[in-house]
Amino acid sequence: MTDIKHSTPNEVAGKVALVTGAASGIGKAIALLLHARGAKVIAEDINPDVEALARPGLVPLVADIAKDGAAERAVALAVEQFGRLDILVNNAGIIIINKLVIDMTREDWERIQAVNATAAFLHSREAVKAMMPNKSGSIVNIASYASYFAFPTIAAYTASKGALAQLTRTLALEVIGHGIRVNAVGVGDVVTNILNHVVDDGPAFLAQHGEAAPIGRAAQPEEIAEVVAFIASDRASFMVGSVVMADGGMTVTAG
Ligand SMILES: NC(=O)c1ccc[n+]([C@@H]2O[C@H](COP(=O)([O-])OP(=O)(O)OC[C@H]3O[C@@H](n4cnc5c(N)ncnc54)[C@H](O)[C@@H]3O)[C@@H](O)[C@H]2O)c1
Repeated sequence: MTDIKHSTPNEVAGKVALVTGAASGIGKAIALLLHARGAKVIAEDINPDVEALARPGLVPLVADIAKDGAAERAVALAVEQFGRLDILVNNAGIIIINKLVIDMTREDWERIQAVNATAAFLHSREAVKAMMPNKSGSIVNIASYASYFAFPTIAAYTASKGALAQLTRTLALEVIGHGIRVNAVGVGDVVTNILNHVVDDGPAFLAQHGEAAPIGRAAQPEEIAEVVAFIASDRASFMVGSVVMADGGMTVTAG
């Protein structure tokens, strides 16, 4: 266990992390914060912009996380480049639709599940295989207030984030005996590009939507990265199967 008295903000130093969805928003902030604190990082994203993050100790990987074999390749790259895998952050996520259930196609539904839930399952499965021999590891899933709350027109998204919360809890029970902790962060509104396909100005929309939270604003991606870096570290040694909210109070207000 970490010596709490002597722990520093650099407790992820020397660890090897895989972060999905690292080209933009929350994932980019997580990859850069873990790297700044001394972790080696594989930064995976479907968007080739992720290559701009390349630097010593940070290796970009352009890949669709939902494709067969992507999780195996990503974990293998971490082991090949840095010798092991200690941290997995299942961050990549999409809301590409804005439809009522009655208008939603099977393809709409399945693409959201594939990226937000199935790819997290596959990356977790492969990560756990790599972590088990080390008898340690930390998996952090980026869930949402939509893991609990619902809004019309995003049923596929809320279902995928509910699935991610339950994957977190179930996998946590399965692997804690191997020294691997699985947790999630339930994120509130964060100023990112995730809605750019849905509205004209995605970041502005999220900034305004966040004003409804008790804190009165949306988060910046770096505020979420701080929570993830803590949970990923040995300092969070007693956290197992938690879905920790970082949502400006969104889920505790009655309105
Ligand atoms: N921004 C918010 O308000 C908010 C709220 C709750 C939860 N979240 C969650 O936070 C996570 C990060 O989202 P963000 O807001 O930073 O969005 P973002 O769009 O800025 O970043 C998401 C990244 O994931 C990548 N990605 C998407 N599909 C992929 C695929 N198939 N393979 C590989 N990479 C892929 C994108 O290219 C992008 O770089 C998501 O899981 C999202 O659901 C965000």
